[in-house]
Order: sequence, then structure tokens, then C-alpha cells
Amino acid sequence: MAKLLYEGKAKQVYETENPNEYIIHYKDDATAGNGVKHDQFEGKGVLNNTISCIIFDMLEEAGIKTHMIEKINERDIRVKKVEIFPLEVIIRNITTGSFCKRLGAKEGIVLDEPIFELSYKNDDYGDPLINDDHAVALGLATREELKYIRETTLKINELLKAFFLKLNLKLVDFKIEFGKTEDGQILLADEISPDSCRLWDVDTNQKYDKDVFRQDIGDLIETYKAVLARMENK
Ligand code: C5P
Repeated sequence: MAKLLYEGKAKQVYETENPNEYIIHYKDDATAGNGVKHDQFEGKGVLNNTISCIIFDMLEEAGIKTHMIEKINERDIRVKKVEIFPLEVIIRNITTGSFCKRLGAKEGIVLDEPIFELSYKNDDYGDPLINDDHAVALGLATREELKYIRETTLKINELLKAFFLKLNLKLVDFKIEFGKTEDGQILLADEISPDSCRLWDVDTNQKYDKDVFRQDIGDLIETYKAVLARMENK
């Protein structure tokens, strides 16, 4: 029996008999507002796993190093064992969300350059926004690691923007996470899905992401199915 190592809001991580690998299991839970809003949607885990695997495959093919080894089944993937940096790495291409709430910026402004943000992944403090100096002072990552994370994230942004544009979706913003293998390799980890990206239809600006749940403006499963359908029909 695989041993449960960690249980997050939407996923579980299991140890395997191979000391260099983990298995990640996608659950059907959705949370928002640091867990304040919580619900379950049958099939969400399957959809996110499917969507995330297609995106990770695309990124790997484009030369981004990721934790992905293989998809085992609808809900489980085999990944390289990494220690996750306690950082939420966020890119914004269009203003919305916490950026507008915090800074009073207008919604929906297309930014001339992507904004790169780091948050300290820590529920007790509400995942506060930090800069490189904070991350280094707290021992979350080194300068060199942060440089690699920033450069890789900007590359990922370009690849994802082009990928979603082909599906007639604008990549508004997204959050990714990185981890480090025992031998010091930094890999893209966690997931990329409508839970962690904001996606707006190019023509109508209709939302195709977790904002439909956060804001109660649509059916989460139907929305995620529509994203997958665009990916499969491209
Ligand atoms: O809420 P905020 O505007 O900061 O979110 C920016 C992006 O990061 C959004 O795409 C959101 O889905 C993602 N995010 C996430 N997990 C968090 C916080 C934000 O996936 N804990």
C-alpha cells in the first residue's frame, strides 16, 4: 500500500516503493478564499488531471523540465520526487483578482509586460505577497534558484499564452509551483488547470476557470469540460 504523505485541498501525494517517485491523486474538492468556500464536484479531479497532463506534455516537448513521469489512470500520475518550494509563482497578463483588490487597479487591462509575483505558501498568514529578498531571508529559495524560477516562469507564460490562444482563450493569469529533486534539479511541479489559471474567451470574455465557482457564476464541471473539449478539438 502506498503511504499518504500529504493531503492538500484538491490533491493527495503518496510515497511509492521507488524512493525517487511520488504518486499524485486528484480529488473532487474545490476550495476558494483559503478554504473558506468548499464544495465537491463529481469528476473535477479527472478533468483537472487530464487537462494538466496535456499541458505538462506540451511544456516538456517545448523543453521545460517538469516532475511528470506518466499518467497512471484518470486520477493518478507518477511524478519525480521533489521538495516543493513554499512559493506560489504567479504571472498576470491581464489585470483582475487580488491584483485589482489590493491595488485598486481597473479590471481587464491588458498589461504591456507580464507581472511576476511571489507569494509565501503559508495558510496561517494567508499566502502573503513577498519579494526575492523576503524569500531569501526566510530561506525559501536561493537567489540563483529564484532567477531560474523567474526565467522559466516567463518562458512558460509565453508557451501557455500561445497554447490557449489556439483554443480562443486568453491566459489572464496563473499560478505555478516548483520543486527541487534530491540532486538539486528544479522542476515545474503541482498542476496547471482551470483551478490555477484564469482563462477568458477571446470573443466574449466568458470565464472558463475556477472563478465560476469563486463567484457563483456558472457550472464548474461544464466549464472545465468545455476547456478540455477545446483542447481535444484543436
Ligand atoms: O487571486 P489572485 O488574483 O492572486 O490569483 C492569481 C492567479 O493565481 C489565478 O489564476 C488563480 O487561479 C491562481 N491562484 C491559485 N492558487 C492560489 C492563489 C491563486 O491557483 N492559492
